[in-house]
Amino acid sequence: MSEVEGDRDGKGVLPRHIAIIMDGNGRWAKERGQARHKGHQAGAEAAREVIATAGELGVPVLSLFAFSSENWSRPATEVNRLMDLFRRALKQALPKLHENGVRVRFLGDRRRFPEDLQTRMAEAEALTADNQSLTLNICAGYGGRWDILESCRRLARDVAAGKLNPEDIDESGFAAGLSLADVPAPDLFIRTGGERRLSNFFLWDLAYTELYFSERLWPDFGGDALREAVTDFGERERRFGRVADNEGEASA
Ligand code: FPP
Repeated sequence: MSEVEGDRDGKGVLPRHIAIIMDGNGRWAKERGQARHKGHQAGAEAAREVIATAGELGVPVLSLFAFSSENWSRPATEVNRLMDLFRRALKQALPKLHENGVRVRFLGDRRRFPEDLQTRMAEAEALTADNQSLTLNICAGYGGRWDILESCRRLARDVAAGKLNPEDIDESGFAAGLSLADVPAPDLFIRTGGERRLSNFFLWDLAYTELYFSERLWPDFGGDALREAVTDFGERERRFGRVADNEGEASA
């Protein structure tokens, strides 16, 4: 879907899609003299609150970066704790999400996840597939470069099969092979925890996204902080590489 659909300058409008890097769980725990997994537990609570607030605001799509392709390199104990947390969080949260009309999807390469978790992911997607209030993308085993390569492989297969001429590859054909093919690109990207990096999140899709960085550690970023970010977004002027409407060259 084109970035320029909808309100032209973005002023005062609600983002159609918010993408969040939930950073700072480890530091939050350290500040309290606790183990890192306690920070992730608190992070899951914050995620629950932010999902509920996005629903209340009427944001159509929310994407949460829960586990990156690089996170597999963390110590095995932390990875295992995170897998346990995903299992529990999914089990606890799913009935309520379904009741609230949330469509849950998992984006990323899930083949490295424990089999039972892969099954639960597929079941959650099937259960909520027809829900229409909020689309919740949980990015797990996700990497922006992985996503781009997946789309390249798909196009290369079509070329090899003689179904596609390389000269006919265009932006929309490429985007159709990405994880976010059927939803608008993020209007608003949020990263908590004070770092100002994209860290291999949606690389293609963030081309015209408004970036918002918060110093708050993720467990401290709740519904009110999300509302603040959405208000900030609503005050921005988006030009998508063009000039403002009142700044065009005067015509004769
Ligand atoms: C980054 O903080 C956070 C993660 C790698 C895990 C994110 C997981 C959750 C918030 C909980 C589960 C969420 C859902 C949607 C089920 P960090 O560990 O890199 O923090 P640090 O930079 O302070 O070390």
